[in-house]
Amino acid sequence: MAPMSSLPSKLSQRVEAVAGVDPEMRPATKPQFGHFQSNVALRLAKTEGRPPREVAADIVSRLDLDDLCEPLEIAGPGFINFRIKAEVLAAEAAAVLDDPHAGIVQTDEPRRVVIDYSAPNVAKQMHVGHLRTTIIGDCFHRVLRAQGHTVIAQNHIGDWGTQFGMLIEQITDEGIDASTLTLAEADELYKRAAAHFKADEEFAHRSRARVSQFQGGDEQSLAIWQQLVDVSKVGFDAAYERLNVLLTDDDLAGESTYNADLPVLVDELERSGVAVVDDGALCVFVDGFEAPLIVRKRDGGYGYATTDLAAIRHRVRDLDADRIIYVTDARQSGHFAQVFAAARKAGFLPGDVVAEHVGYGMVLGEDGRPLKSRDGSAAKLSDLLDLAEQNAAPSIAIAAIKYADLSSGLQKDYTFDAERMTKTTGDTGPYLQYAHARCSQILRTAEAQGHAVGAISVLAEPAEHQLALLLSRFGEIVDEVAQSLTPHKLCGYLYELAGAYSTFYEQCPVLRSEGEVRSSRLALCRATQKVLATGLDLLGIEAPERM
Ligand code: ARG
Repeated sequence: MAPMSSLPSKLSQRVEAVAGVDPEMRPATKPQFGHFQSNVALRLAKTEGRPPREVAADIVSRLDLDDLCEPLEIAGPGFINFRIKAEVLAAEAAAVLDDPHAGIVQTDEPRRVVIDYSAPNVAKQMHVGHLRTTIIGDCFHRVLRAQGHTVIAQNHIGDWGTQFGMLIEQITDEGIDASTLTLAEADELYKRAAAHFKADEEFAHRSRARVSQFQGGDEQSLAIWQQLVDVSKVGFDAAYERLNVLLTDDDLAGESTYNADLPVLVDELERSGVAVVDDGALCVFVDGFEAPLIVRKRDGGYGYATTDLAAIRHRVRDLDADRIIYVTDARQSGHFAQVFAAARKAGFLPGDVVAEHVGYGMVLGEDGRPLKSRDGSAAKLSDLLDLAEQNAAPSIAIAAIKYADLSSGLQKDYTFDAERMTKTTGDTGPYLQYAHARCSQILRTAEAQGHAVGAISVLAEPAEHQLALLLSRFGEIVDEVAQSLTPHKLCGYLYELAGAYSTFYEQCPVLRSEGEVRSSRLALCRATQKVLATGLDLLGIEAPERM
């Protein structure tokens, strides 16, 4: 875990040393309660059977926080209120401004973190589900990288499977040159092939025969397969570019990567007794799951689960992962729980390697139902981007989508309301971009007028205190997001910061003040600009200088 040195953790540690338990410091709910509040005395009073205010007074008398806080206060039934000294707040905010990482604590235990995200399927357009995994996985990527971990993105694209039998047959029937297709055309072809497969028994029969030919290494089939993979990659890359995510072709490690390993792995599982034959299929039984994980089907084929076992083994053994994060929709959580358990049983996933599945909820239309495209299939990713771009310029539209996706708890469903998401007011991505542009604007004006940005020193106004306090908390928030994989906490923090900046801007004249006050306030503007830009970047959102 990264060392925490932020103000609340410093306070926490010192209170804990006296109280003997975690004081569970919370930001104060009202300015008159100071900056932080603890209910530790109320909790201790219960176990000790003493009046809470007496316990609070006892703790306060033994605490020496003169270097950090104004004299402590006991409030209401026995809360302890902490008000940070103005000069401490100034120093904390100044440290963020001076730090090249804007206060993001660099880990002293760098980990190798594999993140499995995006993973669209060949010959199918990316849909709304892939929008979420791509945005969320990319945010995790950025956050963990910012702390100094080594992130290895793995794009586990669906580039293998029985669907290629019918795709190749359809291409052959239609006499198409697959290398000339766009991804959208390949998607259309997929639909024609699927319909054909359903309607025509003879075609279905040929398709199945094609599967075994192709999986047996038939060159002509493999050549067509390769063409489909290639045109699909072009389509995926276009989406990644539009979304401005970190994924590149180097991160591609599709299902087919593991083909050669599957018989080896399955053989090993069988020999070690981890997998047993049950009703003709080779299965791994894991406690807590009713149905076993099938690693080799009765017909000898391998499926999604077998590939995932091979992928885990590769990630641990060859990529040397300490932590593996999978980002898919919540419906796959059972699959991953079982795969992880089977991998542990097989010894592919040692106890010190963390494997986590982060499942996300659905994107709903304004009618409250899962977003669909006109033909009833899941809404296409490109259509959603188009929709947002009808309301705003591309970099703002992308900000709107990403923020909407990340700002409520990942497990929750959310409504895709392009008009609301792209507004520059309210809890939106564009609002945060706008706050950043405002910071930039004032700094530009100051420069044009010859006013220098000074050191953060004179903090007299409550609005300045609040802003400095929030700035000092950035590193701790990022650390929390890195550990608990909860981007909405970063969104909430940035939204609060933008609000505190607005209040500061209204209540504390910057350009119209003089001397040290002005130069200190300008420095607060610059620190806010820096934290907003860094924070937005962690969400994958651009921070424009002007809007
Ligand atoms: N291709 C799959 C889909 O579109 C997601 C793959 C997720 N990753 C994995 N290792 N299974 O649903």
